Amino acid sequence: MTSPSRSGVFQQATDRRVERFTESISFDRRLYAHDIAASIAHAQMLATVGLISEAEARLIEATLQAIGQEIEGGQFEYHVELEDIHMHLEKELVGRLGDVGRKLHTGRSRNDQVATDLRLWVRDALDRVDGRLLQLQAAFVNRCDRDAGVVLPAYTHLQRAQPVLAAHYWLAYCEKFERDRSRLADCRKRVNVCSLGAAAVAGTSLPIDRDDVARRLGFAGVAANSLDVSSDRDFVLEAAFVLTLIAEHLSTWAEEWILWSTVEFNFLQLPQEFCTGSSIMPQKINPDVLELTRGKTARVVGDLQTLLVLVKGLPLAYNRDLQEDKPALFDAFDTVEACLELAAPLVAGAELKGEAIAQRLDRGYLDATTLMEYLIRRGLPQRTAHHLVGSLVARAMQQGVRLSDLPLEDFRAADATLDEHVFGVLGVDNAVRAFVSCGSTAPQEVARQVASWRIKLGLCDGEPR
Ligand code: ARG
Repeated sequence: MTSPSRSGVFQQATDRRVERFTESISFDRRLYAHDIAASIAHAQMLATVGLISEAEARLIEATLQAIGQEIEGGQFEYHVELEDIHMHLEKELVGRLGDVGRKLHTGRSRNDQVATDLRLWVRDALDRVDGRLLQLQAAFVNRCDRDAGVVLPAYTHLQRAQPVLAAHYWLAYCEKFERDRSRLADCRKRVNVCSLGAAAVAGTSLPIDRDDVARRLGFAGVAANSLDVSSDRDFVLEAAFVLTLIAEHLSTWAEEWILWSTVEFNFLQLPQEFCTGSSIMPQKINPDVLELTRGKTARVVGDLQTLLVLVKGLPLAYNRDLQEDKPALFDAFDTVEACLELAAPLVAGAELKGEAIAQRLDRGYLDATTLMEYLIRRGLPQRTAHHLVGSLVARAMQQGVRLSDLPLEDFRAADATLDEHVFGVLGVDNAVRAFVSCGSTAPQEVARQVASWRIKLGLCDGEPR
């Protein structure tokens, strides 16, 4: 089978090994629906400007749709000698329509065609990821009521630091994923520009209407410079970066929950449906989904790296190197979407071990900073208060007790003006209630934020709108 791109200039057939080496149909077949949509819009535009007749455009549209259905139904055959999805669809169209099919490629090239297909594909994929992130945020927000009142240690340097509400943890992840969603939306703006009409590199002498095609495909506008647009893969790299950051956020969450689910932490029970067993140790319930979420992040970072190196040093404009963008791009989306698909139900299905956590909150002097701030409110300079509380902690440590177990005399030895009211700021519950600042774990502040997240995510009955 000869490729439609092999013109009369060739006297020799392509070497079979070259066909195998240069093909992209094995991976770009995923673009078929977007290629068909772009071709139909292009044909309709050609009819509007009079380069083909309305009847021809209708015939092309109906035939491409029929071919699309056959692909959908798995009845379409692919051949490496036809190189890519664009050639496959055109060859099939010409096979069915003859000369009418031969008119479709008027005023366009595969260079602007592949860029357009890719933009359409990425636009849909960004929207899918956004929907998944929304579900994940909803799963975290829905936990806030369930875990109301549960206090957890917050860590810095993975050392116990201060007590926080569990909901404060959940909303921290919502914030990260909200920034990811805003990056997706921002990336989408630069994706949503039409490349079609740039033709091979310089535009065309034919009277095409680029705005018409852009409108039909739902693009916000047309790319201004034909030379730029056929080489531009910024939007692919941007999407890959946004995905990388999402994967990094998922990975840190996964790492935290892997730790929390250990016997050593004993904070969290993972849903058994999301765990796997060991082939030799019968007692094992392993957090493999979380581990692979963490592990698969490496692939996404690798995909971004591939794309960055791919475009480095390419002269204007289209170069065949760009064909290699697709495996990395598809893999980044597939990987992140697969992780997100499991993340939301895993978040919903896990259980905090409230009692076990509460029993161990007394360790680690989580109320020390609140005591220091109490002394500051009573007029001590911060450094003095910091030093005094440090000495009290050292004393409590020597005796193996909590700060609240020290007798009043110890507090008065540190600061003679203290009385029994000092015990009102000790213990994690008192410490949590003492917070007041905006963005802190103060219960009323967290409640206010939970309420505003519910509105933002459209959570009426617990489901995203
Ligand atoms: N398969 C090619 C790609 O993915 C399509 C564009 C080919 N253009 C060309 N002039 N050979 O980039």
